[in-house]
Amino acid sequence: MRGAGKKVADKPFHRSRTVYITDSKEDAGEKMELLECFDKRRSVRSFSDEPVPDEVVDNALTAANLAPSAGNLQARDFIVVREEETKRKLLASSPGHGFLAEVPVVIVCCANLDRIIQYGPRGKNLYCVQDVAAAVENMLLYIAARGYGACWIGAFDEKGVSAALGLPLHVRPQALVAMGKPRKEGSKPPRVRIEGLVHRERW
Ligand SMILES: Cc1cc2nc3c(=O)[nH]c(=O)nc-3n(C[C@H](O)[C@H](O)[C@H](O)COP(=O)(O)O)c2cc1C
Repeated sequence: MRGAGKKVADKPFHRSRTVYITDSKEDAGEKMELLECFDKRRSVRSFSDEPVPDEVVDNALTAANLAPSAGNLQARDFIVVREEETKRKLLASSPGHGFLAEVPVVIVCCANLDRIIQYGPRGKNLYCVQDVAAAVENMLLYIAARGYGACWIGAFDEKGVSAALGLPLHVRPQALVAMGKPRKEGSKPPRVRIEGLVHRERW
């Protein structure tokens, strides 16, 4: 990742120690601070047609797979979509996300309800959702660290996506991650001030 040593204005973190993400072999020697990566990751909704190498996709999936999961059951599956026709079907089930037609890769992140069955309703309604969310965030951070961009899409018709991908009934699509080289940087939406959402000891 380019930008090692660059100062980022208005860094939101208090830091006593610097943690670096190292990059791929071809970028060996270049580093990005972990916290800087959190700060720089943006939702990207405009992509160039530059292809995304399999290696980047595979590493993004490895990052996802390293995320924590309830009971380490890893109740999540991923479908990598590169074919135009399938992307068009995903777009048909996710109106308002025209960039799905132009993005090189979509990774459909799904909860696997069979794999979480031992935890009953809490597993089905909560743990597998969180398993997928943790994986998606790892994926997004890896993608950002590699100089690519991504958007987490949650607004889609589940039945349409399931039909497009031939998902079995126990597999529930939860997030579409569109990824590619950003055509333009995503804007930086403001965050609630930390004092407005952190409570100490009790509400
Ligand atoms: C659960 C979830 C669902 C989301 N769904 C969509 C979506 O359907 N379409 C979209 O364009 N962005 C979606 N986003 C991205 C958010 O809009 C984005 O993260 C938020 O505006 C903050 O911007 P940032 O990611 O650049 O920090 C989603 C994000 C999350 C976490």
